[in-house]
Amino acid sequence: MSIGIDQIGFFTPNKYVDMVELAEARNVDPNKYLIGIGQKRMSLADSTQDAVSMGINGTLRYLDNIDSAKVGLLVFGTESSVDQSKSASLFVKKALNLAPEVRTFEVKEACFGLTAGIMIARDFVRAHPDQTALVIGSDIARYGVATAGEVTQGAGSISLLISSSPRILDLNDGHSAWSDDINDFWRPNDSAVAMVDGKYSTQVYLDFFKHTFAAYKEQKGWNTQDFSSIVYHLPFTKMGKKANDLAIAGESPEVAEKLVKAFEASKQLSMEVGNIYTGSLYLSLLSLLERGELEPNSLIGLFSYGSGAMAEFYSGNLVDGYQDQLNPRGDQALLDRRKHVTIPEYETIFNAALANPTDGEVLTSDEETGVWYFAGTQNHIRQYRQK
Ligand code: COA
Repeated sequence: MSIGIDQIGFFTPNKYVDMVELAEARNVDPNKYLIGIGQKRMSLADSTQDAVSMGINGTLRYLDNIDSAKVGLLVFGTESSVDQSKSASLFVKKALNLAPEVRTFEVKEACFGLTAGIMIARDFVRAHPDQTALVIGSDIARYGVATAGEVTQGAGSISLLISSSPRILDLNDGHSAWSDDINDFWRPNDSAVAMVDGKYSTQVYLDFFKHTFAAYKEQKGWNTQDFSSIVYHLPFTKMGKKANDLAIAGESPEVAEKLVKAFEASKQLSMEVGNIYTGSLYLSLLSLLERGELEPNSLIGLFSYGSGAMAEFYSGNLVDGYQDQLNPRGDQALLDRRKHVTIPEYETIFNAALANPTDGEVLTSDEETGVWYFAGTQNHIRQYRQK
């Protein structure tokens, strides 16, 4: 049975920080951020955008293209959760007017959360081929002003529809997983910003890539040359480049050139948006699909990594006509609408968003009409509104 990605929706908030300006403010050579880290800009969420509102907005990008009555499962992967108990997916389900019969919940394993949701959705659709599954990954990457991780922040969501008649990517059976209890990145309950040992994290990410890629190729009887492209979780694009360098080591110049070209196409959106944690791998996939000029049936490998740490490698083949399901102009317009903020403005907005608003305070949004936003809490109940 064919099961895979039928729709992809992307959202990012309406403000951005320029990395050259950030480098200058931090007395760093801009090339460290542009080349050494591989980031150009990062999206900035103010107090009115959170995981829930961005998840709704990402799904609205394609909701008109699907039959909502067929959605039987809604999984929300996030590490920027808004509640310790209630799932973010319930706010989304209400905003999207989905049926009460929908099974819905939130999952967490750092940046692996959206992939975990996809694997659950794949099994669900296999058991219920006449139904579809919505899987959302939505996050704000926060390390703090003037920290080493600052340049790898960002905000945004990816929403996917998984179905038994996918119009974008037909997922192949099987996967290879690798996990270990390690401390490379985490966010304790009493901290609004992540704690990270970035260099250790990079080392573990590359180690887990080697394990899962080799095991997957062995499981399927495939070679590196069989892949048209490999997309990677991109907390910052240099990290994916290091994994791609491992993938092409020892390969022929033709294979190396093919995978490097694909990687360049896959990193463009992440360079603009920054880290969106759970959605980052799928932002790379979207960037590749929009810029990679791939033939139908091309084999794409996907490497998912969540700190803590859990990794998985799997793959899919592009469906004929996949381009018709994409909206590159809409995605570019989403980036182009963002307002440039100066570094002092960024610091003020960033620090204000770390704290919850006082209960009863009504927040207003400067987003465009139609965009959902967080409007504050009333009696400690989160309020979401549409502009
Ligand atoms: N021109 C070009 N490259 C430069 C440069 C310059 N002027 N100055 C430095 N660089 C390069 C360095 O050589 C290094 O490259 P390498 O990684 O290939 O060795 C890179 O820029 C980063 O420099 P480094 O000194 O290691 O940076 P840092 O100590 O500021 O830390 C991170 C960078 C990425 C580790 C840090 O931002 C971080 O921890 N981010 C969070 C990462 C994360 O989210 N991890 C968990 C998610 S999976």
